Amino acid sequence: MAASSVVRGEDAFKKVFKFYKRKSPPPDFSDVTDFSKGLPSDKIVPAVLDLSAVSDSEAARAGLQPVKSWRAFGLQGYPGFIFISNPFLRGSQPFWIRQCLKTYPQKPNVCNLDMHMSPSDTQDIWGQSVHGLSSSPSGKREPKTLLERLRWVTLGYHYNWDTKTYSANHHTPLPADLHLLSVQITAACGFPGFSAQAGILNYYRHDSSLGIHVDESELDHSRPLLSFSFGQSAIFLLGGVRREDPPTAMYMHSGDVMVMSGQSRLFYHAVPRIIPALEMEGHRMALFSQDSTLGGVLSEEDRLLCTRYIQSSRLNVTVRQVLGPGQRFPETPSPPQKTDASQAGGVPGQTSQRRKEEEESSL
Ligand code: SIN
Repeated sequence: MAASSVVRGEDAFKKVFKFYKRKSPPPDFSDVTDFSKGLPSDKIVPAVLDLSAVSDSEAARAGLQPVKSWRAFGLQGYPGFIFISNPFLRGSQPFWIRQCLKTYPQKPNVCNLDMHMSPSDTQDIWGQSVHGLSSSPSGKREPKTLLERLRWVTLGYHYNWDTKTYSANHHTPLPADLHLLSVQITAACGFPGFSAQAGILNYYRHDSSLGIHVDESELDHSRPLLSFSFGQSAIFLLGGVRREDPPTAMYMHSGDVMVMSGQSRLFYHAVPRIIPALEMEGHRMALFSQDSTLGGVLSEEDRLLCTRYIQSSRLNVTVRQVLGPGQRFPETPSPPQKTDASQAGGVPGQTSQRRKEEEESSL
């Protein structure tokens, strides 16, 4: 059976999600759209980009190829959805991978480990993981490093997983490099003036998934949502405004960028499965070449750790504009956020659950 045999009807999305999540026997992947193959079909159409919005040198500052070289596509039936098949310059992905693993988890950013550890214990997740990740396996069952236990990080306006809201009183600066990257992608896609105000990083192991959801907590839905993927590949499902709409399955490979705007901005989506890049013909993860000088050359230690980590993991960064121009958060009080273990979510224990498992269990 192929996923396309699931017809519109009661929770068709869930049926397709379960289809692709199944471990044994493995599902038939023949319906999965692969934009890296780049062949426009009756379903895949070229996306029109604004070639003058970003100069080649500006693009290179964010590690991107000139916009004229990007392979950008739309999907019939998904207005506002744009898929850019790895627009990064060769050798620039390691910079972004290192940012996601070493820099962005640092304070004042918030991560799942803060829910049950003190800020001083989670201050240097990378430093505390170096030894465990770089030593050769001893054959014994080693405790997981903090980096291996990292599941999410929030940036900018910190998303509160319990209340599913952002608030004015829990905000720290969004990293300037991620802001620059986001502004360039959105400008080229026809959204000048995008302001990257919140980021959510998800860290996927080989058996992780992300449940069916809509990103609707942002107050301005006219602004696009951006998604960057690095490391192992994944199957991404994009549905419609109702769970009855059967979703389209597509591969997300390392370096791929998605822009969800217009009607697609509020479509259901999910990640049912991580696919080892080695199983993907043509995606052999030749990531750690040093051709690009973005952010300087990676140290040997950084290279080794990033390579080790990424060999079994996937990173996804979503960037959102929360407030429209001149818009403010409503006056309704949200509880003050503290900088201790109750930060970004209230009760430790409840909030330490990952959104992935949390949403999964309700399926
Ligand atoms: C998300 O929808 O929040 C992330 C999707 C992904 O990991 O590709």
